[in-house]
Amino acid sequence: MRALNLGPDLSLPLSEVIGQCVAILGIRGSGKSNTAGVIFEELLSARYPLSIVDIDGEYFGLKEKYEVLVVGSGENVDIGLGLDAAPGVAELSLREGVPVILDVSDMLAEERELFVLEYLTRIWSLAGKLRKPYMIGIEECHEFIPQGVRTDLKEVISRIALRGRKRGLGAVIVSQRSAKVEKDVLTQAGMLFLHRVVHEVDMRVYSELLPWPKGEVKETVAGLGVGECIYLSREEVRKVRIRPRATFHGGFTPSFKPVETPKLRQVRGEILAAIRRFGDGATPAPGPALRNRLEELETQLALKEARLRELERRLKEGEDESPACQEAQPEDETGLPPEVLRQVDRLLRRLKRLPVHQRRLLAFLVAREPRAYTTAELAAWIDCAEAALLAEPPNPLVELGLLSCERLARGITYRARLKHYVAHAFSGFLPELGPEGEHLLISHLRRCLSRISTTERNFSHIP
Ligand SMILES: Nc1ncnc2c1ncn2[C@@H]1O[C@H](COP(=O)(O)OP(=O)(O)OP(=O)(O)O)[C@@H](O)[C@H]1O
Ligand SMILES: [Mg+2]
Repeated sequence: MRALNLGPDLSLPLSEVIGQCVAILGIRGSGKSNTAGVIFEELLSARYPLSIVDIDGEYFGLKEKYEVLVVGSGENVDIGLGLDAAPGVAELSLREGVPVILDVSDMLAEERELFVLEYLTRIWSLAGKLRKPYMIGIEECHEFIPQGVRTDLKEVISRIALRGRKRGLGAVIVSQRSAKVEKDVLTQAGMLFLHRVVHEVDMRVYSELLPWPKGEVKETVAGLGVGECIYLSREEVRKVRIRPRATFHGGFTPSFKPVETPKLRQVRGEILAAIRRFGDGATPAPGPALRNRLEELETQLALKEARLRELERRLKEGEDESPACQEAQPEDETGLPPEVLRQVDRLLRRLKRLPVHQRRLLAFLVAREPRAYTTAELAAWIDCAEAALLAEPPNPLVELGLLSCERLARGITYRARLKHYVAHAFSGFLPELGPEGEHLLISHLRRCLSRISTTERNFSHIP
């Protein structure tokens, strides 16, 4: 049986890794990403398929030696892809065994969370059918599986890490904030690579994980150099040294020595072509009747777009250039910390940049407590072509959960959707905000959103 050669004194049978949750912890610069990179190199050499959620765009260097597809929105992607393509790529990766790096380094927090959620949800459900060995790598996992906060994404990742074995799914999770990672996942991990930590909170986590007296944990951990760690599995616990990565490490510590950019392997054309189809929506070529109808709609759309541009121009002319939330309350009135207010402001700025018909849609949804509308109904309400709405999906509104009501039961209120959105997009802040802060945040967001909607002109005629 093939073995994974992780270092001069550590070699693991490949079979032991199948369906395993592997946790890699340690402070910044202690060698976590190198350790994860070495595990991925060894898995790739053994043709073991995997996907890596790469939050800092540092794993593309694996392409120096292996055929890996890099998708997402960072600097080194083979194909830039958004949310809609995520399930398709996940399916291709698992079915065909194509290794994928999801470069989410350029995505905003909310977009990243949804992208990874869509991707991993498909992996989880399909793995139930295919039951093949497959590994998921997640850097900075405290952002995705934070201790004490519940999100849909956390649920999927925890499921993969804790219950993936029967489906062949394993996870390599990496974090520099041991104390902020969901404890259940850490304590259930079958293999741990514990690099150096210094803070008392992290040391406490290590003491809970290691079967050693506290003093010994402290002494051994403090003495670990870069690339050294304590390897802990069900069978053994010992100090090991991990080998350096053979491929380019995009997250290396910069120095004054010049760094050569490596030559990267390209992915086969047929894989790229298959992926591009997901990006394009993969529609079959239309017949003559459909083509005529399409042309007719395109003409209508062009007219509508011209009208929208004109409305947008008129709106801009009368628009005040002040901050996104014009009547934003001062910080002491909202009672929210500045970093939370900054994130709210970023969202509002994004919403204010929406094309005019999408902003009208927002205004409509906010004003009317949406129930289950169809896209055609929504388009009719805001007096825009359904095709225009479909061609330019209002992603920020989908993220806010306002349009997902379509798929849910009638009677879901706008406020409930906002609560759900806050749980996703502000998950990192919620432990500190507490239930009262969360309530304040939802109210603040609601006020700001209705202000955006009331600054909308040309809206009063809508019944
Ligand atoms: N086993 C090793 N052998 C030799 N060099 C190593 C080893 N592990 C890490 N290094 C080097 O140490 C530096 C930091 O490593 P790495 O990026 O893996 O740390 P990290 O813990 O992931 O840091 P961060 O938390 O900032 O992401 C890099 O330049 C890397 O090349
Ligand atoms: Mg790292």
